[in-house]
Amino acid sequence: MKRTHHCNELRPEHAGHTVTLAGWVHSRRDLGGVLFIDIRDREGRIQTVFDPSDLSPEICNSAASLHSESVIEVVGRVRQRPQGTENPKIATGQVEVLVQGFTVLNHADVLPFPVDDPEVANKVNEELRLKHRYLDLRRPEMARNLRLRSKVATATRVFLDEQGFLEVETPTLFKSTPEGAREFLVPSRVHPGQFYALPQSPQQFKQILMVAGVERYFQLARCYRDEDLRADRQPEFTQVDIEMSFIEREDLYSLIEGLLKRVWKTALGIDLPTPFKRISFEEALNRYGIDKPDSRFGMELVDLTESFRASSFKVFSGAIQNGGVVKAINAKGLACATQGQIETMTEYAKSFGAKGLAFIKVEGGEWKSPIVKFFSDAEKAALKSRLAIEEGDLILFAADQWLNACEILGKIRLYCADVLKAQGKLTLDPQRFDFMWVIEFPLLSFDKEMNRWYSSHHPFTAPVAEDIPLLKSDPKKVRGQHYDVVVNGVELGGGSIRIHQPAVQKTIFEEILQIPAEETQLRFGYMLEAFRYGAPPHGGIALGFDRMIAILCGTTSIRDVIAFPKTAKGACLMTDSPSAVSAKQLRDLHIEVKAARKD
Ligand code: AMO
Ligand code: AMP
Repeated sequence: MKRTHHCNELRPEHAGHTVTLAGWVHSRRDLGGVLFIDIRDREGRIQTVFDPSDLSPEICNSAASLHSESVIEVVGRVRQRPQGTENPKIATGQVEVLVQGFTVLNHADVLPFPVDDPEVANKVNEELRLKHRYLDLRRPEMARNLRLRSKVATATRVFLDEQGFLEVETPTLFKSTPEGAREFLVPSRVHPGQFYALPQSPQQFKQILMVAGVERYFQLARCYRDEDLRADRQPEFTQVDIEMSFIEREDLYSLIEGLLKRVWKTALGIDLPTPFKRISFEEALNRYGIDKPDSRFGMELVDLTESFRASSFKVFSGAIQNGGVVKAINAKGLACATQGQIETMTEYAKSFGAKGLAFIKVEGGEWKSPIVKFFSDAEKAALKSRLAIEEGDLILFAADQWLNACEILGKIRLYCADVLKAQGKLTLDPQRFDFMWVIEFPLLSFDKEMNRWYSSHHPFTAPVAEDIPLLKSDPKKVRGQHYDVVVNGVELGGGSIRIHQPAVQKTIFEEILQIPAEETQLRFGYMLEAFRYGAPPHGGIALGFDRMIAILCGTTSIRDVIAFPKTAKGACLMTDSPSAVSAKQLRDLHIEVKAARKD
């Protein structure tokens, strides 16, 4: 085609030029016979003018009868818009194209929802948008998200190439290694009754690549996890997956800080300050009640255990006697919460295992609370100073075992922040990005039901060297060489220095995780064997690419930055997948289906 310009390009200096444009009919206005059509292409839009005094009635009628989103080509002359009719909202708003000829390249039917309305995302149900994703993606915001994603992928590749990384593709037909999330299985036709699994991440392959001498690997890797979906989780998603040999944690921190600095500069023009602050897992829980703190606002957790050890309020002193703690937050400005709102908050806390949610409202100079009567003057004084209590505050307490108390208040802290945001009392600068490294996670966590230890992250994470002697004697004290990179309360990525000694890895599998030797051999034998032939010390990380793009685009849902995402139920509404398959396909795969399809 002989398109001469994109629809964003024309400016007053093009006045008098004859141009050919092609694109979609974005919007139309008929002003007493003169028809104005905004044409849109990938780059932008421009107003064209169909004036009946210049054009044949057939052309005018044909243009007037077009539905929105029909595809057209126009030839016309650029002219400055008459004074007072400029549109400052679009880049080409000072000019328009006076149409001389026009071709309909394709008619569009009436649309299921309008594409020219910036409010579509708020007004149109997401299922309809997903069913007609090709229309949804035409909306400028979605097009911008895709473009930013592509730009960031390129910047990532360029940066890692400069740092000496090789991009290596690893298989997506992998082996089942039941660990972490549930897997997607793929039946083998030629090996009856056997299955591949789609990888949850290229973890094992990237470590093997270190044994293979690649030294610096990366991949924009597709990962698959059959887990409950939320706004920040998809069953298939992309990681910027990285592994390096002969490194320590510090090397990895500076590499990732450099990468994120490059990405933020490229995408948003923002200079991220580095190095990022660091916080231990324990401090993160103590102060924010979560291992991915949002440190853009205060409301930090305060430990009041010592002040209430001998309290006559038994809920508090009793919890402390049981080895627990008393913690509180001060939600400034929330004393206005109604009884109903406090009950809702209490129910919410209970859904996370809280036994209750004691509170004090500071209103009209008074401490309004069913529990203040139990507090001594010294306890009240301690509260006042530790929590800097003022008029208008809402104080919320959790008395429980340390981890529970922290986690409950961590959730309530975020809940209160949302309420304060909705009330306009808390405003966060959308250009502010509080990055941090969360470090010193426990290597192992205990599963009470199964009565056994499991890896907090994955079984390849190396223990902190000085904690290795505690592995068998006091496993809960062993810290892992794991790190998470967190921004504004989102876990952007995580990784670790790995175990590279086969003996240590075998001890972890068999003695700590209690995986029987035969099973270890079946699942990880190839890795243990590889490690016997000269495995360099190594470590790495994976950044959630979709989450990173969502943060850069200022959206909370990763569905907005994935071209064809799945719904919360894991369906693709556009192609209607998953779907039933024919009896023959099942026979070929040696599969018999027992459950009928449920919709
Ligand atoms: P991890 O499981 O922490 O680590 O994953 C790394 C990052 O991937 C992103 N992520 C997801 N994004 C969208 N949808 C999901 N379902 C989803 N699950 C995870 C998150 C997360 O921080 N192999 C290790 C990394 C390593 O040790 O090097 C791994 O996969 O942003
Ligand atoms: P109760 O004595 O059980 O009626 O509780 C008195 C107040 O303390 C109520 O507001 C409860 O919600 C709250 N409460 C009870 N147990 C806890 C707890 N473990 N932590 C914090 N608050 C609690």
